Amino acid sequence: MNRVPLNESVVVITGGGSGVGAAIAAALATRGARLLIVGRREDRLRAVAADLGVEVVVLSADVTAPETPALIVAEAMERFGRLDVVVHAAGVFEKRSIEQTDDAHWHRVLDVNLSAVVALTRTAWEPLARSGGQVVLISSVAALQGFPQNTAYAASKGAMNSIGEVLREEGRDEGIRILTICPAQIDTELWDGKAPDPVRGAMMRASGVGEVVASLVASDRSIDFAPVTIRPPSNPWLEDN
Ligand SMILES: NC(=O)c1ccc[n+]([C@@H]2O[C@H](COP(=O)([O-])OP(=O)(O)OC[C@H]3O[C@@H](n4cnc5c(N)ncnc54)[C@H](OP(=O)(O)O)[C@@H]3O)[C@@H](O)[C@H]2O)c1
Repeated sequence: MNRVPLNESVVVITGGGSGVGAAIAAALATRGARLLIVGRREDRLRAVAADLGVEVVVLSADVTAPETPALIVAEAMERFGRLDVVVHAAGVFEKRSIEQTDDAHWHRVLDVNLSAVVALTRTAWEPLARSGGQVVLISSVAALQGFPQNTAYAASKGAMNSIGEVLREEGRDEGIRILTICPAQIDTELWDGKAPDPVRGAMMRASGVGEVVASLVASDRSIDFAPVTIRPPSNPWLEDN
């Protein structure tokens, strides 16, 4: 295993063009990591990359496309020659009651939030084992707690946590660390049209979440973390916010 410090590391971030993924990219860039950011909207990826001030490769791709995992890993190896961390931040969230959870919605959420995570992790596993790397799963508090109108999303994040625990066991001998992060509400465009401004103002800031994730990634490798729940000091939906 050839483990290197964070400032020599190569980090892939899905969903790096906005919200939590972009904030993680910014926090890792200040620590000197080299980045490959992935999302469908190339303009958003380029805007994030332009602000980072480090070497960033932009890959415009749909994480659910069958060829995407191999493209991501090949691009990281070609451009940087190694792969140290994969951050799974791409995700979709849409409120749907159980009666509105039709097959199309169910499959779309599970495809993006879960199947794509499995496919990329599987493809990246061998280079991650070579570098003694890390997998960061941006899960949700919805994995741990019931919220209404959340069947598909909760299923995807609950399964993500379960997979994280399996990977933790499988990764131990390979020197791969798994970080499962379970955030409550973060003020990102994921909430556009779903929460009023005062509620959004009481949510966690994405920049702060990015700093937390980067600190965990940078932390001493003699430390393992159980799934990490992060949340605002009070419930943003309470009326006195
Ligand atoms: N905001 C919260 O309150 C909160 C709380 C807990 C967990 N999370 C999780 O945090 C992660 C990031 O969400 P966010 O809050 O930062 O919202 P966001 O800004 O909407 O980010 C979602 C990202 O996923 C990318 N994405 C979606 N579908 C994709 C696809 N098929 N292929 C490639 N990229 C795709 C989007 O980029 P493109 O549209 O350009 O593809 C976007 O950059 C998600 O997994 C979410 O479940 C968020």
